[in-house]
Amino acid sequence: MKRAVLSFAAAIALSSCDAPGRHSAEAAPIRPAEVADFATLFSQNCSGCHGKDGQGALAVGIGRPVYLAIADDATIRGTTESGRPGTSMPAFAQRTGGMLTEAQIEILVRGIRNWAKPVEENPPAYTSSRPGDPSRGHDVFAASCTSCHGKDGRSAIAITESSYLSLVTDQHLRTVIIAGLPQLGMPDWRSNNKPLSDADVTGVVAWLSSQREALSAQLNH
Ligand code: HEC
Ligand code: HEC
Repeated sequence: MKRAVLSFAAAIALSSCDAPGRHSAEAAPIRPAEVADFATLFSQNCSGCHGKDGQGALAVGIGRPVYLAIADDATIRGTTESGRPGTSMPAFAQRTGGMLTEAQIEILVRGIRNWAKPVEENPPAYTSSRPGDPSRGHDVFAASCTSCHGKDGRSAIAITESSYLSLVTDQHLRTVIIAGLPQLGMPDWRSNNKPLSDADVTGVVAWLSSQREALSAQLNH
């Protein structure tokens, strides 16, 4: 992925040599580290996974109002800098092996924040201070999730398989359950059977997480 981003950025830099008003023989191409335009930075580095304007694609819509109502700047900055090890979310900061300067990451954080819009109801918080109760979570899953995900999450949209659960963090599960994936037809915390409380969300994540542990215990036997 990083290689693809690099060559795309390089292609843009090269084509800018031919821009009008430039002497292509002597003009230095715009180096990737000098790109300071939010839209360019986002489309070159993020939209492939998070969708055009952060509206969501395969990964969460980090430009959507519900996401921005729960995630603070420190979260967006930290995740962009360091990525999520063990998942497909790359680390972008130069000091963590990525290609973006601190200034570019700040431009991204501010631009993403500017997409925020007020939301009508307050969603459950980004993180929960209490541990989740998996058996409550199992009940919530049965009430609000089986219609699409099947009993115990084993339908066509299978989310309780190790191939899925081993590739995502618990925070991602929580984010998705609160913010939804409207672009794929997955509702947010409100449009389920009934709005999920903080304890409901925490419980479902704890239950999904316990499924991951059970699966990896099976694999290690
Ligand atoms: C109206 C149908 C519907 C309901 C109800 C629903 N989901 Fe989903 N969910 C989806 C769809 C569609 C996807 C996207 C599947 C794909 O990637 O193709 C999805 C994806 C997911 C994912 C994977 C997200 C990712 O991309 O990493 C998780 C986790 C998930 N749902 C959890 C839940 C939980 C927990 C509930 C109940 C609180 C729930 N869903 C309720 C339709 C639904
Ligand atoms: C190759 C795909 C990919 C690219 C490119 C990518 N992301 Fe991500 N991103 C992900 C995935 C997958 C997750 C969820 C990882 C997890 O926690 O399981 C994620 C998570 C995030 C989160 C945290 C969401 C949460 O749960 O709070 C933020 C913020 C984020 N990405 C920002 C960015 C920004 C900004 C860029 C561009 C500079 C970017 N991402 C590029 C795949 C990608």
